[in-house]
Amino acid sequence: MATQTLSEVRASQPGDHGYRSFSLGEFAFSRDEYFVYVKWPTGTHVMSADTFLKALQRDVAWNFFYGIVNFDAVIGTVNHYGTVDLFAGRYNDAYRKAELDHVENYATPQIRATFEAILADWTNDGFDPFASPAETGNAFGAKNGSNTPAITRRRVVAKRMVGVPGDEVPRSDATGHPVNRHFLDVPQDEPEIHAEPGFEGEVCAFNLFSYLSRSDVTWNPSVVSVCKDSLFCPTTEEYILPVIHGNDRVEWFVQLSDEIFWSVEDRDSGAVRAKVVMKAGDVAAMPADIRHQGYSPKRSMLLVWENADGELPVLLAAGKLPNNPVDF
Ligand SMILES: [Fe+2]
Repeated sequence: MATQTLSEVRASQPGDHGYRSFSLGEFAFSRDEYFVYVKWPTGTHVMSADTFLKALQRDVAWNFFYGIVNFDAVIGTVNHYGTVDLFAGRYNDAYRKAELDHVENYATPQIRATFEAILADWTNDGFDPFASPAETGNAFGAKNGSNTPAITRRRVVAKRMVGVPGDEVPRSDATGHPVNRHFLDVPQDEPEIHAEPGFEGEVCAFNLFSYLSRSDVTWNPSVVSVCKDSLFCPTTEEYILPVIHGNDRVEWFVQLSDEIFWSVEDRDSGAVRAKVVMKAGDVAAMPADIRHQGYSPKRSMLLVWENADGELPVLLAAGKLPNNPVDF
């Protein structure tokens, strides 16, 4: 594994369809009207441009997230929290056995700069990689403008909780967050607060269902409350999670509304482990050694409960913590 220390973004002049090609270490990325092509010394891979951009958008916006962000069964990144692996076939049994897999490690700012540049160049006017398919234009065709506001959205990261003075603000029509078409039945009233005398400035509450009903993005966990390492990261989901997330810690899921089908695989080999159907009110603990992809037939609300303790990946890798948080 080679560690790259260059900081510049390596890009070509625009090609036949108006898009630039990029390289990072020994990886090369190019796109045409429909597809993205990834090359590395022992192989090549092709992905649909929309699938690639939706995964890339999340990897950039989440700063490589927890653990592994698989763009599909071949390409992805591993977050080492300071450096990032970019891999091809590393978590795919067939590529591993054929010795066609490839991994490179970069300082986070370097891969981030390249990924941001690809995302900016390859996202056309009208395509929003965070939006549901029903709420965006398409990703295809020759290069046609850009969509900077969509791809540089500020991620919601509450310091304590949404609604606390000075922290993230609840969503409303006035903040540019109308109620989504699938959540028109969600009550929009806010909680009444009856604080004891002397505590009026120390008690806060907000309507989480209203807040989520006004989300303009899909599959984008954002932090709405924080208690030490305990992060509540709810999100609204529709269509397919654009990444296959490989955990480096346990994640708890609470299905707040509607229904999601989860495909759960072994994190390292991709072998199928489980199909999980989560209906409103269901709670699941996704083990620390799996990867998962969700399918949401209509927009739904999912609470992802993350433990941000930086020791967890080390303790799990050393076998000092169980991969399942509960045994039944
Ligand atoms: Fe996950």
